[in-house]
Amino acid sequence: MSARSRDRRVYLRSHPLLFALLSATRPLRVVRLGHTVLVHDPDVYREILTNVPLDREAEGTTGGSAARLAGGGTLFDQAGEQHRDARRSLAAELGAAGVARLRPIWQDVIERGLAALPGPVDLVPLAEDIAGATACALTRCPADPRTLAEAAIAAAAEAAHEHLPGRRDKAQADRARQAAERLSALLPEPVDAMLAVAAVNTTVAALPRAAAWCARAGLWDEVSPELVRELLRLLAPTPLLPRVAAADAVIQAGREGQAGRKDFQVRKSDRLILIARHAAESHRDTAADPQAAAQAVFGAGSHACPGANLARAQLADFLSALAPHHPSVRKARAAHETALPGYARLIVEGRIAEDRTRICA
Ligand code: HEM
Repeated sequence: MSARSRDRRVYLRSHPLLFALLSATRPLRVVRLGHTVLVHDPDVYREILTNVPLDREAEGTTGGSAARLAGGGTLFDQAGEQHRDARRSLAAELGAAGVARLRPIWQDVIERGLAALPGPVDLVPLAEDIAGATACALTRCPADPRTLAEAAIAAAAEAAHEHLPGRRDKAQADRARQAAERLSALLPEPVDAMLAVAAVNTTVAALPRAAAWCARAGLWDEVSPELVRELLRLLAPTPLLPRVAAADAVIQAGREGQAGRKDFQVRKSDRLILIARHAAESHRDTAADPQAAAQAVFGAGSHACPGANLARAQLADFLSALAPHHPSVRKARAAHETALPGYARLIVEGRIAEDRTRICA
């Protein structure tokens, strides 16, 4: 089975019915189901994120979850001047200087975590340590990095249930609130809870999936910044962005002069399911517009991911540290009930351990 097919199983495992529905409706580009609009088309995806006013506090959206998680005031639920100011200060933390400050922290965790190679290493707890250490440094959190990572994963998993139809009952709401409180209690500034969630969950999902893809597709000799960009496009670690329209808008689906171009009406309060995975053309080996597809994974417009450069640098370091060992996957188990598709466990072995196993067998 190919690296793509195996990774697709991981993606489908996290939310089987939802992701099966998204795959089935992909050829339709934009689909209205009552007040819910499924957006697969890359241009419509970008146009909505860039130009359509979005209700950043609506229930079942990332901003709405952020507001409840951190008591409001996070980047995700902000708009206008307040958002621009907060982005400016985060840009310093996540820009080139910020990445240079954080890099030795995660490099040290990677080095210690992979010291056991070629022997078996589970890359999932290692990804949690990498993400936790980075998030602790960013939020100046004194807690143990693994504890912060686990709290951020639990908070995201409970919040994600809010986005799924039919799961919003009182017990679920209580679980989500308690998980959010546990995370906030670890942080000097509770408002940083959403930053920790954004940084940890994406990293813990992306790093093991990227390593598994490299191992299964035999890419260890090709690790480079270009491969990192392409793997992130193929994986689309945040496969869908739930949003709500704050005003009516007309979107043009398809490019000027293209066959099938038509107007699409978005109505105020419509629930918009923006499918980053399809906007990034993750289902294709080669994207029609590689630059736009690589960016789609990180969103678009004024709320586009400010952690993209950090995420790329971290993945590059992780894969570069693994590459000399040419690891192969020994055991893998997909996670379910996590906010983002990923592994619950991914045990790899380096080339030498693999040879030893063959000799003993
Ligand atoms: C592979 C890793 C990552 C992916 C795929 C990813 C993806 C995304 C996406 C799709 C959005 C929403 C963009 C939009 O609404 O247009 C977002 C927002 C955000 N991400 Fe990331 N992200 C990643 C890593 C990170 C990291 C490592 C950090 C922090 C260290 C981070 C911090 C944020 C923040 C703070 C926002 C909210 C920005 C705002 O609302 O203004 N992300 N990310």
